[in-house]
Amino acid sequence: EKGNYRHFMEKEIHDQPEGCQRTIAAYVDTLTGRTDISGGIDFAGLSRIQIVACGTSYIAGLMGKYLIEQFADLPVDVEIASEFRYRHPALRPDGLVVAMSQSGETADTLAALRYCQGKGMKSAAVVNATESTMAREVDVVWPIHCGPEIGVASTKAFTAQVAVLTALAIAAARARGKIDAAEEQRMVRLLLEAPRLVAESIKLEDAVRAVAQEVSKARDVLYLGRGPMYPLALEGALKLKEISYIHAEGYAAGELKHGPIALVDEQTPIVILAPFDSYFEKSASNMNEVMARGGQVVFITDADGERHAPSGARVVVTAPRCDPLVAPLVYAPPIQLLAYHVAVLKGADVDQPRNLAKSVTVE
Ligand code: M6R
Repeated sequence: EKGNYRHFMEKEIHDQPEGCQRTIAAYVDTLTGRTDISGGIDFAGLSRIQIVACGTSYIAGLMGKYLIEQFADLPVDVEIASEFRYRHPALRPDGLVVAMSQSGETADTLAALRYCQGKGMKSAAVVNATESTMAREVDVVWPIHCGPEIGVASTKAFTAQVAVLTALAIAAARARGKIDAAEEQRMVRLLLEAPRLVAESIKLEDAVRAVAQEVSKARDVLYLGRGPMYPLALEGALKLKEISYIHAEGYAAGELKHGPIALVDEQTPIVILAPFDSYFEKSASNMNEVMARGGQVVFITDADGERHAPSGARVVVTAPRCDPLVAPLVYAPPIQLLAYHVAVLKGADVDQPRNLAKSVTVE
């Protein structure tokens, strides 16, 4: 049921605070303030994690790499399942394969998962559909608990996947002795705060709708970010392409000079995702480079970033202040809403974009 919303996608974007709350509640013990990851995976004994996925689930997996490597010092490889399954990857049985999939039925992801199992690896699946083939075939199921997702463009499943991976990063960090109990509790508290911040971030909808007016006229859009904002830049570009049919590319902001800056002109909106964190200064300098070439910058930052930003951004969207641990969750709604409102302005069929299926069960 869409309720008062025009599209499932719009509803699912707005469902995210509640969705993530359910996800987080399933992976932390609110009484002790500790993470609670079932399945008996011994994170301390693992040599590495191999994530396999497609589309938005792949991007969530990439975010997981940033989180798990930073906090748990555990090597994580993330690969697009359709490449992975055919290229004879070098695998060792002491690794854990994690299939990420909203549907649990994506053909390439399933094949990649089975390939790893065939090499003797333990397996886990981060899925929404707990009755799915992947859920049935793995050693451990980590459900994302966000409720059914109907819109072809994935939104609430993405934030729920990222929430699971954040909890997993904290649990792995603790198991591997990288953080003590007090630090674990501090991080868990931050995670428990995330749904409220996601709700705050959704309130940026009016500001984002105004940006959408401009973006809807563009032929190409660039999304840039550093650190965990890089996967989010990829996700922003994927969302826009899928439902508005505007060509968009997500890039690591540091790659700007290595090619994409050639695309920058007065007609190209450049969305820069840059919370006021340790990457900020570098992202701000990329913003200057883009503006010097006439690029129209849409700067998504927080109040501190807004104060320290070079002047001249076409529009600034001011997200709630948050700890870097939860920034991937807090900065997701503005890019989803941007794609959504651009698509609506263009009169596109938001929930059923052309040529796309919700679940890709053929390779
Ligand atoms: O069900 P899955 O998560 O395995 O699906 C993977 C992709 O097909 C999916 O994320 C796709 O990219 C979405 N349309 C993105 O919005």
